Amino acid sequence: MSASTLWRDRQAKKPIFWAQELLNSLFMSSETLDNLSSENRTFAPSPEFAAQANAQPGLYDEASRDGVAFWERQAEALLWDRKWDTALDWSNAPFAQWFVGGKINASVNALDRHVAEGHGGRIAFHFEGEPGDTRDISYAQLLTDVSKAANALTEMGITSGDRVAIYMPLIPEAAVAMLACARIGAIHSVVFGGFSADALLSRIQDADAKLVITADGGFRKGAAFALKPAVDEALKGETNVKQVLVVKRTGQETAWDDSRDIWWHEIVDRQHSTHTPEFFDSEHPLFILYTSGTTAKPKGIFHTTGGYLTQVAYTHKVVFDLKPKTDVYWCTADVGWITGHSYMVYGPLINGATQVMYEGTPDTPHKGRVFELVEKYGVTILYTAPTLIRTWMKWGEEFPNQFNLSSLRLLGSVGEPINPEAWIWYRHVIGGNRCPIVDTWWQTETGAIMISPLPGVTATKPGSAMRPLPGISAKVVDDNGVPVGDGHGGYLILDKPWPSMLRGVWGEEERFKETYWSRFEGIYFAGDGAKLDDDGAIWLLGRVDDVMNVSGHRISTTEVESALVSHEAIAEAAVVGAADAMTGQGIVAFVILRGGVEHVEGEELVKELRNHVAKEIGAIAKPRQIMVVNELPKTRSGKIMRRLLKDVAENRAVGDATTLADPNVMKLISEGLKSASSED
Ligand code: WTA
Repeated sequence: MSASTLWRDRQAKKPIFWAQELLNSLFMSSETLDNLSSENRTFAPSPEFAAQANAQPGLYDEASRDGVAFWERQAEALLWDRKWDTALDWSNAPFAQWFVGGKINASVNALDRHVAEGHGGRIAFHFEGEPGDTRDISYAQLLTDVSKAANALTEMGITSGDRVAIYMPLIPEAAVAMLACARIGAIHSVVFGGFSADALLSRIQDADAKLVITADGGFRKGAAFALKPAVDEALKGETNVKQVLVVKRTGQETAWDDSRDIWWHEIVDRQHSTHTPEFFDSEHPLFILYTSGTTAKPKGIFHTTGGYLTQVAYTHKVVFDLKPKTDVYWCTADVGWITGHSYMVYGPLINGATQVMYEGTPDTPHKGRVFELVEKYGVTILYTAPTLIRTWMKWGEEFPNQFNLSSLRLLGSVGEPINPEAWIWYRHVIGGNRCPIVDTWWQTETGAIMISPLPGVTATKPGSAMRPLPGISAKVVDDNGVPVGDGHGGYLILDKPWPSMLRGVWGEEERFKETYWSRFEGIYFAGDGAKLDDDGAIWLLGRVDDVMNVSGHRISTTEVESALVSHEAIAEAAVVGAADAMTGQGIVAFVILRGGVEHVEGEELVKELRNHVAKEIGAIAKPRQIMVVNELPKTRSGKIMRRLLKDVAENRAVGDATTLADPNVMKLISEGLKSASSED
């Protein structure tokens, strides 16, 4: 299929995976991408929205006149104990330093400041547990909670620079734990609660964490799930963890090690309700967050304080147009991901937002749960992911239509390309055709939003993240690093340092340079394909490396492959991300069995393998399909041609259950091989 046919089809709203297909046609065939028409529907903000917007058109010019001075003005919105001497030191590129010499405390900016300014009574979180339990937590209360937790951490011997692993359900204590670490200068490493004990262990080891903060469990899909047993299991491995701090959330039976485990309520509740903060260097590490790369070992992306806080606060204000006195903001992400860090904890709290925090799944106890909460709390700003929007589309309009969504005034999207039909549905059904949509492109590594419309300025196109934000420089380049013209595609790069950029990969300096800075000299390589339309708007097309994007979660093909081959029955495995109507991409694995090893067969084996991957990594990495094959297509040099497997995986009827040794598979593989042999 030619790129231009694809483009027309996309406009005809046919393939839901248009972005992936376009990406394939860009990078995986000799087709050139000519004749790209641009999306012709545009949606300008209403004059009323434009007039009241935090970000006005002049912001672009202001930032382009002097980028560093622009960022200094944004940094001035924070509370510094000592002002910086130098705004940006890029002399040791790619290791940036922002606001050098400044001293700051993240937790003071998120909490103390609002209380001091008389806003202690404002609600920080409307917490809604999945079973329906609720807590309204004011800024004053949150400051007390964080102060007590900080005192408890200090009593437990945690000091500045120590690493603390946080493995929690989405409950207020997760945010309290993060802010308490930040308050005393300890570096938090949040591990998503859906990860397995093995995944938790490797992250604890890599960061050399001293303490784990967890909960007995949480609520999901109408039932209590346990978290503490995974911590117990993980800590059977070699670690320097001395203590485990456990929040009682579900009250379920929990195995206990008196020499190591401490209940949160036993140590935190009895602490002093005030805590005198220390101020840390602007470049003091704030957190580590692991993300999948192209090898089996996740990368510990680490962020520092001053620059990170500056950019998350700025972007939260201009992209979401937050009016702290009147808005109710809801980001549906989990704290285990970067979106939860930047747009549920640090950005919104620094800006004094009132937020909704919801523990559970969107279909419990019914498929209208999110809309029910929008109505209940009068949510005005909703930030979610395309995979959820597509799920809502599948469930049908009757669920949102049962609730009053008229409080909404702005909608956001993040995590993967949003296909135009989902965008239009979001705008129409959820936003009542009155809310601007901000499609925000960014990464764990960028720390904060980089490409997005400004909601009161930009006439948006469904499916495009539009333009770099004021202060950001992003380009689309060809194989030689030369910017492509409008109407052309290539690789997305960032060619100027930005305040919230990652400062490295924890303990792996070479990997940091190699992964992000070696493709093009001095330029950050994002790993995403993109194209510019005829108006210069940016369309993200998905990953160009071996990283899959499943429901907005990054999972590396190599990571899943190595989990599979760690099973005794498997000799070799190849994993690809195949277009999936609901999750963006689905994980499809091809495996070769080991001779002479006893194992179950057929459906049983597939089930066992899927569970094995869940155990090694977590349920989110379970392959959608596993196919047993006799051979994998390889180049003469022995490299598996995943691209062909991807063709096979995508030609199959989507949604079909896992299949075994389908003779058609090999036929398709060999056919694909023939037509692609010149690309070896
Ligand atoms: C993808 C999530 C298209 C992209 C904040 C990126 C997107 C990866 C968008 C980062 C978007 C994120 N449009 N693609 N609006 N937002 N992505 O680190 O492939 O979990 O490289 O950060 O998600 O995922 P991460």
